[in-house]
Amino acid sequence: TALESFVRGLPKAELHIHIEGSLEPELIFQLAKRNGITLSYPSVEALRAAYAFTDLQSFLDIYYAGASVLITEQDFYDMAMAYFRRAAADQVIHAELFFDPQTHTERGIAIGTVINGLVRAQAAAKAELGVTSALILCFLRHLSEDDAFKTLAEAEPFLQHIVGVGLDSSEVGHPPEKFARVFAKARALGLRAVAHAGEEGPPAYVWGALDVLHVQRIDHGVQSIRDEQLMQRLIDTRMPLTVCPLSNVKLCVYKHLADHNLGQMLARGVCVTINSDDPAYFGGYMNQNFVETVMALNLTAADARQLAANSFEASFVDADARAAMM
Ligand code: ADE
Ligand code: ZN
Repeated sequence: TALESFVRGLPKAELHIHIEGSLEPELIFQLAKRNGITLSYPSVEALRAAYAFTDLQSFLDIYYAGASVLITEQDFYDMAMAYFRRAAADQVIHAELFFDPQTHTERGIAIGTVINGLVRAQAAAKAELGVTSALILCFLRHLSEDDAFKTLAEAEPFLQHIVGVGLDSSEVGHPPEKFARVFAKARALGLRAVAHAGEEGPPAYVWGALDVLHVQRIDHGVQSIRDEQLMQRLIDTRMPLTVCPLSNVKLCVYKHLADHNLGQMLARGVCVTINSDDPAYFGGYMNQNFVETVMALNLTAADARQLAANSFEASFVDADARAAMM
């Protein structure tokens, strides 16, 4: 349709993409072979067939297993370049990538191997595809705050390559308050802050991310709709939510895309954005998320334009570069 072509052609920023979640089954098998690793699935088809999730944790278990094939700097480069090519094809002109160093350092991979591979891909993406990008280091919230401090210390020699810190993994039972001190340290180092909150967890976790972690964006945040005072706060402060519609359906936050609250949030003036989260696992990159959401929620071309504008407003690019992108 004409609306679909319009949506596909809009320049966009992607602000919620876990780079390890862009690892397609084909690349998992290729890297396993290259690194002499035996997978517990016999084929690409068998692995893909296991991508049937009931909640966040059921996904995380298989996502961390998939990431175990990443060993060398070249592996991280290849993964990120595959993502950047897909992003460019979807008119993503700027991307802010999450990466989970602890998933790799726990397996004995040096944080420099991870970061150097990603940084090399960022340079190639800019030169070859015209896609600009930034890196956001995420702490795994199922691990301790001490572990997060250790990770931040390991990252200090690479801080010029990192725009901010985030918080991801198992949400319920691991509230933002658990990471108050390490986020304060990261902010003191000049880093921006974001956090996953209100994906499966309650509105109280969104309040905690705002008032205790002092984040500049909320990742997901869809549960905020259960708290009217919180909604008003998000609207009044133009606090961005990086929403991931296909992810929410795959992880059973919503039964159907048509049930999603993104349209309501947008209509009320919340700075919502559309993102792919873990596209290799959730069945779609940026444009699939955009097109399916616009269709399922009966959004207009003006709504789509606003969603794209929000993605640049919410990004960490400086004001001059942002004006040029919009
Ligand atoms: N890590 C990768 N994807 C995630 C998600 N959707 N929520 C929490 N942690 C994640
Ligand atoms: Zn996420």
